[in-house]
Amino acid sequence: MTQSIPALLNEIDRVLTHGARSQDARGLLLGKEGLLRRAYHQLKALPQTERRNLGKALHERETRAKTLLDSIPDITQKDAGAPPYFDPTFPGGKSQAGHRHPVGIIINEIVSFFTKINFQVLEGTEIETAKYNFDLLNIPPLHPAREAHDTIWINRRKGTLLRTHTSPMQIRVMAESKPPLRVIVPGRVYRYEAEDATHASVFHQVEGFVVQQGTTVANLKWTLHAALEAIFGRSVKLRFRPSYFPFTQPSLEVDLACIQCEGEGCAICKQTGWLEILGAGMIHPQVLQNVGYNPAHISGFAFGVGVERLAMIKYKITDIRSFLTPDRFVMEQFPGVL
Ligand code: FA5
Repeated sequence: MTQSIPALLNEIDRVLTHGARSQDARGLLLGKEGLLRRAYHQLKALPQTERRNLGKALHERETRAKTLLDSIPDITQKDAGAPPYFDPTFPGGKSQAGHRHPVGIIINEIVSFFTKINFQVLEGTEIETAKYNFDLLNIPPLHPAREAHDTIWINRRKGTLLRTHTSPMQIRVMAESKPPLRVIVPGRVYRYEAEDATHASVFHQVEGFVVQQGTTVANLKWTLHAALEAIFGRSVKLRFRPSYFPFTQPSLEVDLACIQCEGEGCAICKQTGWLEILGAGMIHPQVLQNVGYNPAHISGFAFGVGVERLAMIKYKITDIRSFLTPDRFVMEQFPGVL
């Protein structure tokens, strides 16, 4: 069976780390039928776009292999009767430490920004009840999100499910504490989706909400703008479009001007110039009432952002399903992940 280039790279790293001193290491790495030759051979068959990063990785391993092997004394040249050569001063192999997952990197960046502006970080439970996931969020019994084709139910009759969004935590936190509140909730959510390049059935959201007297849409806009500039590490342009969520009023859909083409239109933004990244709005008066607050005296904003979508934009990852692969080389090919 032909091994893929990432699998060959894995093997090369293993030999470089643990087996460079073995007698056949040179042949295994640099020989005619060696791992590097086999990988270079496969590289030729790949499209130009994939060749660059993998080619760089192979070249780096080749240089490292040559330097390392040249620095190991050749014991075959020694006196046949002499004991095997051992150099106690020779530095040990470098261990492969791995790295954070892009989704983890983005969550850390979000947490780092929001804790600087005094938000609390809370996590909810992934198993929720329909009461918190829907009812108290003003999502009526006949809303399509409650159908079996959208929600993964644990027990439909008892109303237990895998949360479809992080918004139930708005209710749980508001019901248990008093304003002023500034909270973010990173976490995993589940939907019964037909998966494709941009839709997963298990993905991450970060919910954010502020409940405080006098909170307005202007506060929401400033917060999102500042947060996204911190996450992308550059200035960004946002577009706020009217939308509908049963638990916010007014509701907004927020788009980011494509950071690849700066809004001109390209393959990443499907020629629209914009990338849809999150839903937001002012917390609905009915939701405030549901948790015992008086909407005449208190207001708040809330937003829910898809973490994989942000990571896809930041690291130019074109298929959301790549996040679920256990192979670290799949992630390492995207610039900026390491
Ligand atoms: C919600 O889930 C709302 N709870 C967001 C919200 C919170 C609105 C607070 C108002 C106030 P929506 O279904 O649009 O909304 O999902 C929010 C984000 O999650 C989307 O913008 C997108 O970035 C991401 N997302 C949604 N579905 C998927 C999916 N199947 N795969 C990956 N990301 C997804």
